[in-house]
Amino acid sequence: MLKKALENALTSEESNELISAFDQIGDIIIVRIPDSLLSKKKIIGETLLNEVKVARSVFYQASDVEGDFRTRNLEILAGEENTETEYKEFGCKFVVDVENAFFSPRLSTERERIANLIQEGEEITNMFAGVGMFSIMAAKKKKCIVYSIDINPVASKLCKKNIELNKLVGNVISINGDASEIIKEQLVNKSDRTLMLLPERSDEFLESAINTTKNGGIIHYYSHIHADKKSEAGKLSEEHYLQVTPVQSKILGSKIVRAVGPRYYQTVVDVKISK
Ligand SMILES: C[S@@+](CC[C@H](N)C(=O)[O-])C[C@H]1O[C@@H](n2cnc3c(N)ncnc32)[C@H](O)[C@@H]1O
Repeated sequence: MLKKALENALTSEESNELISAFDQIGDIIIVRIPDSLLSKKKIIGETLLNEVKVARSVFYQASDVEGDFRTRNLEILAGEENTETEYKEFGCKFVVDVENAFFSPRLSTERERIANLIQEGEEITNMFAGVGMFSIMAAKKKKCIVYSIDINPVASKLCKKNIELNKLVGNVISINGDASEIIKEQLVNKSDRTLMLLPERSDEFLESAINTTKNGGIIHYYSHIHADKKSEAGKLSEEHYLQVTPVQSKILGSKIVRAVGPRYYQTVVDVKISK
């Protein structure tokens, strides 16, 4: 669709160089542009703004997702320079800020999977909750209490706003701070289920995840794993988890969440712990 919209602005050769994947989040479009086409970024932005009817702003993604807050730098190409927008997923409404707090529309299948696993009455610790996507979808689907922690103040503030928007005050609790500190101070042995969606640093935070999880509770352990064969990625992450965990654990399952590079995958291992 991106290439089609740009037919008049780029030669077919240039069009082929464009990375066809781009994200549309509410009325914002975020596009990645290869170095060879950077001189044409303005015309790319303006064409997209004209061609995609719902678009209000087109941004160029000028950096990878990086730093503690897992955010990215965006540069306005066309339209309004406002990085906040409203996004809808499975009947929930979210205000997101695509530059100042982590957000990815590409995790929606995983969010639905987790929401379906939750049992009525569960307490859940979401250690790296961002603007509350997983927490709110879970609490909208099942009656449960979710402690929704994030270290980024912008993410925690938006999470609070999203809790109100979805009428989940009291069911989802937004807490700003470092997950290990918050757990130590307020959430030891509190959760039936713990989410660890910071795959780059799961091993570092595993002890805190175990701390907040009750005996017999479940941890969703996300990580990044190299695998020559895609079919082996899940098994390899299970083996990795079993090597690093200090507690007795029963593996309930594992899967690839998404590819993050060549032969490199984000995976999740679901485990039931005994302590
Ligand atoms: C990959 S994002 C996941 C966000 C969210 N679960 C989602 O799917 O939209 C990781 C989040 O962890 C937060 N984070 C990083 N270090 C943290 C820490 N020590 N304690 C709590 N949150 C942290 C970042 O601010 C970021 O929002």
